[in-house]
Parts: sequence; structure tokens; C-alpha cells
Amino acid sequence: LGNGLAQTPQMGWNSWNFFRCGIHETVIRETADALVTTGLAKLGYVYVNIDDCWSELVRNSEGDMVPDSKAFPSGIKALADYVHSKGLKIGIYSDAGLYTCQVRPGSLKHENDDATLFASWGIDYLKYDNCFNLGIDPKERYPLMRDALNATGRTIFYSLCEWGLDDPALWASKIGNSWRTTKDIKDTWESMTAIADINDKWAAYAGPGGWNDPDMLEVGNGGMTNQEYRSHFSIWALMKAPLIIGCDVRNMTAETYEILTNEEVISVNQDPLGVQGRKVYTYGPDGCYQIWAGPLSGERTVFVLWNRCSEAATITAKWDTMGLESSTNASHEYVSLCSTNSFSAKVEAHASEMFVLALAAAAASAA
Ligand code: GLA
Repeated sequence: LGNGLAQTPQMGWNSWNFFRCGIHETVIRETADALVTTGLAKLGYVYVNIDDCWSELVRNSEGDMVPDSKAFPSGIKALADYVHSKGLKIGIYSDAGLYTCQVRPGSLKHENDDATLFASWGIDYLKYDNCFNLGIDPKERYPLMRDALNATGRTIFYSLCEWGLDDPALWASKIGNSWRTTKDIKDTWESMTAIADINDKWAAYAGPGGWNDPDMLEVGNGGMTNQEYRSHFSIWALMKAPLIIGCDVRNMTAETYEILTNEEVISVNQDPLGVQGRKVYTYGPDGCYQIWAGPLSGERTVFVLWNRCSEAATITAKWDTMGLESSTNASHEYVSLCSTNSFSAKVEAHASEMFVLALAAAAASAA
């Protein structure tokens, strides 16, 4: 969407994966505080996004949505002011149907009023869901809110949450800044890997202004091992997925913190070239030795050796499977691997290792 946003994938936090409907303005304020004090904000995680269940079950007599009086007694405007005072941005959630998925009021047929209300509160980001949609074509429903947001005069990030049902990658780039390509992620290895594979199919349609969204991060929520979370984070980064943290950042373990703050991995995600990396080669039992790769700015290439088998293994990436010449020089910390045609490394079960290749000349000048 040409609203100037999403030149690189959005980064931030969202309440849903950890808190579900158990949200409260205190949690949102403390999360904003934690993003700043932990240094996550400085690394780019600037959106603080409230998901479903923020509103009362019915609109007021004027037809406006009303913040849940128990969960948000001070209202959303005050919360937005607080989040902004921390140098962060605030997101909210609604639905392109009659109700949200948790049966709060949806915005279908209220697009202009709701967009105006959100803008008056100082909202910077809208996640727009797809429940209770009356079977109306999403290609009709989603542009209505784009136009309503645009008409407010406030620049608001527009995140489509259509769950990939109608192949949004094919039509959403002029409508939203990102579009969900899959159903909801679960905090399991099976869900995360399946979602990565689905999102991979749509790689050609992502780019600055509009990204494929394989759903929010589960890193730190406890259902996967730290190796699996590292793979989750690395592959999301390589796929140019939104990096929206889904855990309780007020209470992160050191391992969770280390994964989410890996600056080299974040810089792959935020690379200005904005090309989604893909699964380029698989081999081994059920194809569980995998090479994912993609181009970066500065004539560099990023690749991930991903071991989706249940035993540790040495995985080999051949340059020609990444569209590179056999004489390419590989470097992580600019170690020349001249005159080889591949690179191998031992990778633990379910783990991944990420590397960046640079041309010798570029590497020499960068070193
Ligand atoms: C849908 C979305 C989720 C979340 C919930 C909230 O399932 O896909 O990301 O927003 O609704 O109810």
C-alpha cells in the first residue's frame, strides 16, 4: 500500500499470542515500559498493538465503539498518549465483518466512523480481522477500511488479517501494508514449520510497502524449545515477515531476550532490498535438511541451514542452489571461502544456522 509505511517489515508487540482476552491497560503500559527498558524499542520493536477484546460488547447510543470499562478504564486515547510519550506507536484491532472473532463489534458498515474514532485517539496501526464477514468478498470489504483510514488524514499502518483464505498475496498489495497468508499460528513446532512452508509459496508478492504475514511470533511462550524458537525467529526474519513479538516482554527469559535481540538477524529482516528469502533446496529424510536463502542489499546473500530432522546433522548449502556462481566468496565475519562451491555446518536437531555471503570486493571494503 502506497501510504509510505512498511518500507521494511513492521516490528513490535501484540497482546494476542500470550494474553488472549486477558488484557488490561496496565499490561499495555508496562509492556511499553519494558520495550524501552529492555532495549527492544531501540532495535526497532516500536508498535504496541492491542488485539481483540479491547472493546465493550456493544456500541454506545451514538454508534461508537467503547473501550471495555474494566480493562481500559482510562480509555484508549490516554493509553495512546502514554505509548507515544515513550517514543512508541500504538495499534488497535477490529474486524471486516459484523463482529470480531471474540464477538466484539466489527467495523463492516462502520468503516468511516471507526477509522475517524481510531485516528482521534492517535492510533498508528490497525489489524483488521475477518470473522463474521457474511460471505462478502474480502476484495470488497478490505478496501473500504483502507479508504476510511486514508480519509482520516492520519497515516495508519493497515494490517490485513484474512488468514490467507482468498490468496491475499495476489490482490492485497494495493490495499494493505501486510496480509496474513495463513491461519493462526500455534505455539508448536508443527504449526510453526507448516506456516513457514505456506508463507514461502507467496514470496514473489512481498516487497517494500506490503509484506506476507505468517502470523506473530511465539518466541518465549513456552511451547517450543529455544532451538526451535531460534529457527522460528531466523526463518521469519529471512522471509521478511513482520516481527511482532507475542510473549510477555515484562518477564522474558535470558534465552528469549537473546533470540529477539539478535541484531544480525534483525538486520536481515530489515534489509532495504526487501526481497523475501525462500526455501531453495531440501534433501535428506523427508526433505528435512533445508536451505533457505535470499538476496540482500550490497550484493549479499543470506542463507539459513535449517535442520528439520530429529537428529543433529551436517547440512551443506551449494552455491548453485542459491543462484550463485561456484566461485562466490562466502563470509560470515568476512572469512573468505574462495574456490569452494558449497558450505557445510553441523546443525542441531530443529535448529538453524544463518550466514551472510558477501562478494570478496565488498567484504574487503567492509572488513
Ligand atoms: C483471529 C486472528 C488472531 C487474533 C484472534 C483474536 O483468530 O487470526 O490473530 O487476532 O482472531 O480473536
